[in-house]
Parts: sequence; C-alpha cells; structure tokens
Amino acid sequence: MALHVVDHPLLHDIMARLRARETTSDDFRALAYRASLFLVAEATRDLPTRPDRVETPLETAEVHRIDARVVAVPVLRAGIGMLQAFLDLVPNAQVGYFGLERDERTAVARCYYEKVPPKLGSAVVFLLDPMLATGGSAAMAVEGLRARGARSVRLVSIVAAPEGVALLASKVPDTDVYTAALDRGLNDRKYILPGLGDFGDRLYGT
Ligand code: PRP
Ligand code: URA
Repeated sequence: MALHVVDHPLLHDIMARLRARETTSDDFRALAYRASLFLVAEATRDLPTRPDRVETPLETAEVHRIDARVVAVPVLRAGIGMLQAFLDLVPNAQVGYFGLERDERTAVARCYYEKVPPKLGSAVVFLLDPMLATGGSAAMAVEGLRARGARSVRLVSIVAAPEGVALLASKVPDTDVYTAALDRGLNDRKYILPGLGDFGDRLYGT
C-alpha cells in the first residue's frame, strides 16, 4: 500500500484553518472543498489519457484526454464534503455512496446504506472519506467495493492516523491512500490527535 502525504504550502495553510477550533461551519465547508481539490488532483495524477487533436483558432494541437471510467464514492456523512471538489475536477465521474457510522462507544463502523454503480471492475474508484482514524470504516468500504468487483481503489482522506494506515495495509494492502496530514495517533475515544475533531459535526454544524 502506498501512502501519499500531499505537501503544498497552500494546502498547509488550508489545513491550519481547517484544524482551528474557532473555524465556523461555513468556512469549514469551503476549506474542505479547497483541500479536496489538491488531494483529488494528486490522486488522479496517473489516470490514463489518450492522444487526440483539436483545432485551435490558429492550427491543429496535439492534446490528451482522460481515458478511464472514474467512480467517486463518498462515505456518508463526512465524505460529502469532498464530493463537489471531485466532480469539479472530474465532471464525468459516476458517483456511488456508502453510509457508514461508527458506534460512539466502541468506534466500530456499521454500514447503513450503499448504492454504487454496476461493473466497478472496469473503473478507477476513488473512496472519499476525510478521516482515517482506526481505519475500520475505510476497510469496510474498500472490502464492500471489492465485493462489487472493484479492482482499483484509492482512498482520498484529509487527515490520517498511523493506526488507520496500518489497518488498511494489513486488510486491503493494494489500496493507495492520499492525505493532507499523517497525524500522531488516536485518543481513547478513537479520535485523531491533534486532528480536527469530528469532521461531520464541523461540516454540518451539528
Ligand atoms: C467518521 C469519518 C469516517 C470515520 C473514520 O465518520 O467520516 O467515516 O469516522 O473513523 P474510523 O477510521 O475509526 O472508522 P462517523 O462514523 O463519525 O460518521 P459521520 O460522518 O456520519 O459523522
Ligand atoms: N471521525 C472524525 O470525524 N474525527 C476523528 O478524529 C475520528 C473519526
């Protein structure tokens, strides 16, 4: 499994504001969108392209167009905060959903909803979930996607904990992870430290 920690000064600045406890939900949503643009750009860097030609106003130009079927799968709720950025960069992507929720006491995820496009085997699938904590949610989603035929799955997260990276490496080792930050670890309630708190609550002001 490859871990890509995206390093860009503009992304660092966004992360500083995203983490700050005084950031309001409307700012948090805008910052999540902007962080996701950087992460999606990096996660799609090696998508296959095919050569083509277009007529500019002056002459013929050799160009490249995306030559892959792309599926984005945000994990409800928090992954919705990354979806618009994905679709703004990959407008032709198909979208599926996984609804996963951690038990507040045990931090073990359960799946309450799933709807993904058919024939995932022919697609490059991007799982969107901003927080990789224990890794239980992401591992469950990747296993669910694989059970529906997905072969190529990449996780786009915003903050990752070493515990979650280790779990994915052991359970779904062929899943690449893209993140803006690899944090120190988890607290006893399985929240990421220093992290940014509960992403879904901050995104939706709950
Ligand atoms: C959060 C987050 C991930 C999960 C990560 O969702 O969006 O899906 O926790 O934790 P894990 O790596 O330990 O599984 P949560 O369960 O809080 O649901 P929500 O997005 O609906 O608030
Ligand atoms: N989910 C969150 O939203 N934040 C964490 O720190 C861990 C899981």
